[in-house]
Amino acid sequence: MSFYLFSSVICLLFAPGGFSAAVGPSGPMNVKAALTKPNMGWTSPNILSFPGQQSFANATERWTVFDPPTYSASITVRSESDVVKAVNIARDLKVPFLATGGRHGYGTTLGRLQNGISIDLSLLKSVSVNKDARTMTIGGGVRFRDMVDPLFAAGLQIQTGTCSCPGMVGVTIGAGIGRLQGVYGLLSDALISATVVTASGKVIQVSENSHSDLFWGIRGAGANFGVITSATYRVQPLINDGIFTSIDLIFPASKNVSYFNTIASMVNGNGTFPAKLALISNVLYNTTSNQTEIVANMAYAGPQDEALRAMAPVLALQPVFTNLTSVSWKNLNTATSFGLDAVICEPNGIRSIYSAALRTLSAESSISAFEKLSDFYAKYPEGRGTAISLESFPPQKVREIADSSSAYPWRQTATYLLVELSWQPGSTVGDASKALALDLRKDFAATSGYPDLSVYVNYAHGDEKLEQIYSAEKLPRLAALKKTWDPENLFAFNNPLPTHYP
Ligand SMILES: Cc1cc2nc3c(=O)[nH]c(=O)nc-3n(C[C@H](O)[C@H](O)[C@H](O)COP(=O)(O)OP(=O)(O)OC[C@H]3O[C@@H](n4cnc5c(N)ncnc54)[C@H](O)[C@@H]3O)c2cc1C
Ligand SMILES: *[C@@H]1O[C@H](CO)[C@@H](O)[C@H](O)[C@H]1NC(C)=O
Ligand SMILES: *[C@@H]1O[C@H](CO)[C@@H](O)[C@H](O)[C@H]1NC(C)=O
Ligand SMILES: *[C@@H]1O[C@H](CO)[C@@H](O)[C@H](O)[C@H]1NC(C)=O
Ligand SMILES: *[C@@H]1O[C@H](CO)[C@@H](O)[C@H](O)[C@H]1NC(C)=O
Ligand SMILES: *[C@@H]1O[C@H](CO)[C@@H](O)[C@H](O)[C@H]1NC(C)=O
Ligand SMILES: *[C@@H]1O[C@H](CO)[C@@H](O)[C@H](O)[C@H]1NC(C)=O
Repeated sequence: MSFYLFSSVICLLFAPGGFSAAVGPSGPMNVKAALTKPNMGWTSPNILSFPGQQSFANATERWTVFDPPTYSASITVRSESDVVKAVNIARDLKVPFLATGGRHGYGTTLGRLQNGISIDLSLLKSVSVNKDARTMTIGGGVRFRDMVDPLFAAGLQIQTGTCSCPGMVGVTIGAGIGRLQGVYGLLSDALISATVVTASGKVIQVSENSHSDLFWGIRGAGANFGVITSATYRVQPLINDGIFTSIDLIFPASKNVSYFNTIASMVNGNGTFPAKLALISNVLYNTTSNQTEIVANMAYAGPQDEALRAMAPVLALQPVFTNLTSVSWKNLNTATSFGLDAVICEPNGIRSIYSAALRTLSAESSISAFEKLSDFYAKYPEGRGTAISLESFPPQKVREIADSSSAYPWRQTATYLLVELSWQPGSTVGDASKALALDLRKDFAATSGYPDLSVYVNYAHGDEKLEQIYSAEKLPRLAALKKTWDPENLFAFNNPLPTHYP
């Protein structure tokens, strides 16, 4: 996703949660006393941090500060046994907790956690590549940027998300969509096994051959069942020696109709959208030209001649700016899209996001969204940091893999819509922004080719119905799994599953 105009990000120091008068018997003081008891057996006393300390701010800093969870303590675990202790002590104290990886989760249900315990996984950063077996095992806190170099050095690659900063396991357990999914499937399709610390504090191996029910569930609803301390993935030989063709493009407002008509006909499966191509289209406000514009990136897993043939319909529209480059797989996220990954990944911004999964991309909805967003920019100058992204990731391989193989319900999706609201602290544009987002989401859902609004769980805002996230078809089995593995709903803060459905 893309926040092109985030140059004006203000790096607030993360505000620790206010301690309300309503903290129960396990209030902050009791939590601190319990965690700091001698003989707790933490791998190091330094792993604990509390509000007011810089180490606490570091351990709990998030990508968005919109509707955030708050904590009275953080445990920066260094081992699996720390995780087991942390889960056991939080459960026994009846203090809610959240295990965090890359801290890029933005769903507003996370904000229901107040004065909880943060189990910060960021130091579980190991990466080990088995070149012969073509597997990679990572720690539960690894971000995409931590594993690209060692994997590429072994002559291998894997499907990733499109930014360098999110947690790899956090992305995987929702589904893991991205540029190479047309060839390899979802990132969760590449998962072979995971080590999970359960709600009861047991450590189990989860795979096709071990607790296969849970293996099905963690690939699509994985924030609901346990803490993953390590994960093993199938990795792939390089395509074209790992060299991609990437092109950054800008189209002025006057091209909006032809642009959306063209990309809609490409992605809606008339055979011109190859599995190796990915197209990300952003509508945003350009503060130099004072116009709404389309800023896009196309990346192709292959050489330039092949790529240019695949991209031809878009290039024929004569963009005002193009930058055609060859990029190695390991730099795909950081070097493409105008190099804005660094800006997009900045933490501590106000970002509120609404999304819809689109089986078909409607040119009419896109054109109408372009008009509505332009009107919004004109009316609300403080809303000019808001943008729309349409991520058209090829669905070929994702659709080929059986829908029943995992809990992810939206395998038919060809484009993911993100309405990315953003504003500066103190601005009053939030209400108007939300109204715009709800309106656009509704429009796109109506033309999406799905019977109802359908939302990828990791892109969900948090106001959707359970069925719109998990699907009525998958929910009975997911609820049964929740009842088995987390009957007390300790993993309660990321679009939580019920223990019974319907
Ligand atoms: C800039 C940006 C780019 C993105 N790009 C993509 C993309 O290209 N493709 C895509 O599919 N998604 C993408 N996403 C969405 C992403 O999948 C979610 O934000 C995801 O939840 C991030 O995981 P995290 O570990 O960074 O976040 P966190 O906030 O740390 O965690 C999110 C949720 O996952 C759980 N979790 C994280 N790690 C573990 C673990 N080891 N064990 C158990 N639970 C865990 C947490 O408990 C929490 O419920 C993007 C998000 C952002 C902000
Ligand atoms: C907090 O993070 C900053 C920036 O990464 C780092 O320089 C600093 O040493 C960290 N402080 C603590 C106490 O962890
Ligand atoms: C979108 O394109 C159409 C056709 O060129 C044009 O009439 C319209 O003004 C454009 N919209 C905006 C907001 O510029
Ligand atoms: C498919 O879409 C492309 C892009 O708009 C177009 O050039 C081509 O003519 C279309 N092909 C068919 C068979 O409709
Ligand atoms: C864009 O707007 C700014 C501030 O409103 C103004 O200073 C500038 O001249 C405008 N630029 C153009 C190209 O109209
Ligand atoms: C914004 O518009 C200006 C003037 O038309 C153009 O030179 C520039 O490339 C655009 N920038 C972005 C980031 O779109
Ligand atoms: C084109 O993209 C490359 C990276 O892929 C970057 O180094 C270069 O500066 C870009 N050129 C322009 C003119 O934006």
